[in-house]
Amino acid sequence: MNVNKISILAILLWVGLILVLGIKFIKGSVDKGEDGRVEINLTKSEKILVLGEMRQLLKAVQGIVNGIEQNDHKAIAEAALGGGTKMMIDDSSGLMLKLPLNFKTQGVGVHKYFDKIAEEAQKNPGRDKIISMLNTQLQSCVSCHAGYQFKTN
Ligand code: HEC
Repeated sequence: MNVNKISILAILLWVGLILVLGIKFIKGSVDKGEDGRVEINLTKSEKILVLGEMRQLLKAVQGIVNGIEQNDHKAIAEAALGGGTKMMIDDSSGLMLKLPLNFKTQGVGVHKYFDKIAEEAQKNPGRDKIISMLNTQLQSCVSCHAGYQFKTN
């Protein structure tokens, strides 16, 4: 085999690998669950990591509600930031390949919206505005929970 053929083969292998990774990035590692939700297959440690992040999201929601009760817009902003985009740095590329694209999009959307709630709260807009934003946010939590579950193999 001459050098040209070897480089063409190498390029084809790269293109193939990128295609496979691209398809994985979109589809994730999923099965159809018994209760109709999509099951995402994770390792035990990945599941522990993601569920830990979920509990942090719930903590952010609780902190926001507490801030509303106390009429403390700074506390609302601080709690919202706890669920914001700065949380996403822990997620490994291996885990990203297992989560379907739609799941990743919804997840990033929720983090970004927490940043938006924090930004809005800094302006001290009054509790109605924050309650309305929290309602929008909780609809995203509910919608994703209705569609997906985690499974370890
Ligand atoms: C992108 C999808 C997605 C979004 C958005 C999402 N969750 Fe989750 N969450 C899940 C999945 C999947 C599970 C695991 C459910 C299962 O396996 O039955 C879960 C589990 C949880 C758990 C249980 C944690 C544990 O230790 O068992 C909590 C609490 C939680 N989510 C809170 C939230 C809150 C609050 C929000 C919104 C601010 C939210 N989640 C947004 C997908 C999502």
